[in-house]
Amino acid sequence: MQTLTTVVELRANVRAWKRDGLRVGFVPTMGNLHAGHFSLIDLAKQQADRVVASVFVNPTQFGPSEDFARYPRTLDADAAGLVEHGCEVLFAPTVEEMYPDGADNAVRICVPGITTILDGAHRPGHFDGVATVVARLFNMVQPDSAVFGLKDYQQLQVIRQLVSDLAFAIDIIAAPTARAGDGLALSSRNQYLSATERAIAPEIQRTLLAMRDAVRAGLALESIETEAASRLAAADFVVDYAVIRRTDLDEPVTGQRDGLVALIAARLGSTRLIDNVVLD
Ligand code: PAF
Repeated sequence: MQTLTTVVELRANVRAWKRDGLRVGFVPTMGNLHAGHFSLIDLAKQQADRVVASVFVNPTQFGPSEDFARYPRTLDADAAGLVEHGCEVLFAPTVEEMYPDGADNAVRICVPGITTILDGAHRPGHFDGVATVVARLFNMVQPDSAVFGLKDYQQLQVIRQLVSDLAFAIDIIAAPTARAGDGLALSSRNQYLSATERAIAPEIQRTLLAMRDAVRAGLALESIETEAASRLAAADFVVDYAVIRRTDLDEPVTGQRDGLVALIAARLGSTRLIDNVVLD
């Protein structure tokens, strides 16, 4: 595997692959890679001949009081894991390479509507930062396909809208959420949890599954959401939302029972966790 830090080097590699008729897959990450990320790499490899992974902790998607400074940076371990999973190129640009005129002066992409609800309402500007960096990365890598995890469900919908609206010729592939044995969705932020918080955290997935069962049993969606929020609060979470939405994240129509997704965002101490279950 080659580790590249400049767009010029990256483009030269990708151009050579494309000249040979090879399909290029891409997995964007912020590093601190775990089994969840590696499952994205494995999926990318099934769909492409060569895989590029990026590691870039993107300043434009963190709010002023969020964890940008303390976000774990573990490039050597990330590179070792990527080699094991057969990734061909690790692209690890500096902030200057990604935003040559400074992050604050960069052209910003704003995907309207979907970026202002749910996580967008709780993390203003977050999805603009994600859309901006992903659009830049897509132009830098020029992949045929890109893999995103279903765990970040709203992010995936934002990326799909970005790709469709800006006519990127890239297949977006959704990867299932990787989970620990007790059901907690894998996330780099899980390591912020204390031992006590880590023991409580799987309650998020249990609540999502209870929401799914209640939908199947025909209970009113509003009461299912209220019950889920109380259950999480009783387990010591501060709940940002526990909701049932259509899979496109619009509000469900009255009586709707299919094409739904249950989503939770909740904080345990200083750690914000998100998860979801598609209710098919
Ligand atoms: O999901 C992430 O890790 C990030 O939001 C992404 C897509 C790599 C953009 O920085």
